[in-house]
Amino acid sequence: MKRCALVTGGSRGIGREICEKLAAEGYHMLINYRSDDIEAQQTLAKIEDCGSGELLKFDVVDEIATRKAIEAWQATHPDAFIEVLVNNAGIRRDNLMVWMPSADWMQVIATSLGGFYHVTQPLLQAMLTKRRGRIVNIVSLSGLRGMPGQTNYAAAKGGVIAATKALAYEVAKRGVTVNAVAPGFIDTDMTADLDQGVLCSQIPVGRFGKPEEVAELVAFLVSDKAAYITGEVISINGGIY
Ligand code: NAI
Repeated sequence: MKRCALVTGGSRGIGREICEKLAAEGYHMLINYRSDDIEAQQTLAKIEDCGSGELLKFDVVDEIATRKAIEAWQATHPDAFIEVLVNNAGIRRDNLMVWMPSADWMQVIATSLGGFYHVTQPLLQAMLTKRRGRIVNIVSLSGLRGMPGQTNYAAAKGGVIAATKALAYEVAKRGVTVNAVAPGFIDTDMTADLDQGVLCSQIPVGRFGKPEEVAELVAFLVSDKAAYITGEVISINGGIY
């Protein structure tokens, strides 16, 4: 079987571009999605134009469902090895802290930080045994410097950054690298409600990034060429510091 790569939230936006890029590089793609079957089928059709893939439906917030989906897939593919994991699923529920409902705090953290644990933990043992693996966590500029209205999102992404660094130490000697990619403003559904005209004036490059630009960086980090990069957070934000 070909080398397998799992991308959470892979049916649209940045995740979809990562799936397409890695499929074109020869990976068999496991495209995780939560709910939109039609969108997921469309993404799969695009992947099959340039490589191979299949859909893996689960909600990364749900630990048991996530574990069951991964175990069921592994049971039907006993010789397959998921050597690349991209923890990309994420949501925004922006609000000033003073008005933030606890559900919005919990859900954002459960998706990015909880999801990181729920998906990474069951896949790690095989990577350690095979002495090969790549984990890339999609975090955010917000998790590095904080953004007003995003205490929940900044906490979630900042937590994943810290977890990236700790896990990188744990697994480095076994040939597994763990890195984070921190995008700034990328043109996807997640940022569709933002005023690009106003925000572009704050971005040195003068525009939002493209999902495919993030996918290029992820593809490099999962490649053999990036074997000596681990525990890093790599910004891709058009020059915002
Ligand atoms: P998006 O909203 O288009 O894609 C997010 C994907 O995650 C969707 O496919 C969604 O269904 C999936 N997802 C959300 N909750 C899930 C769950 N519980 N289980 C499984 N899948 C779930 O947004 P975009 O922009 O493609 O975001 C991808 C990642 O990049 C996210 O982690 C986001 O926080 C991060 N990011 C995005 C930036 C941007 O400007 N678009 C900037 C910085 C980080």
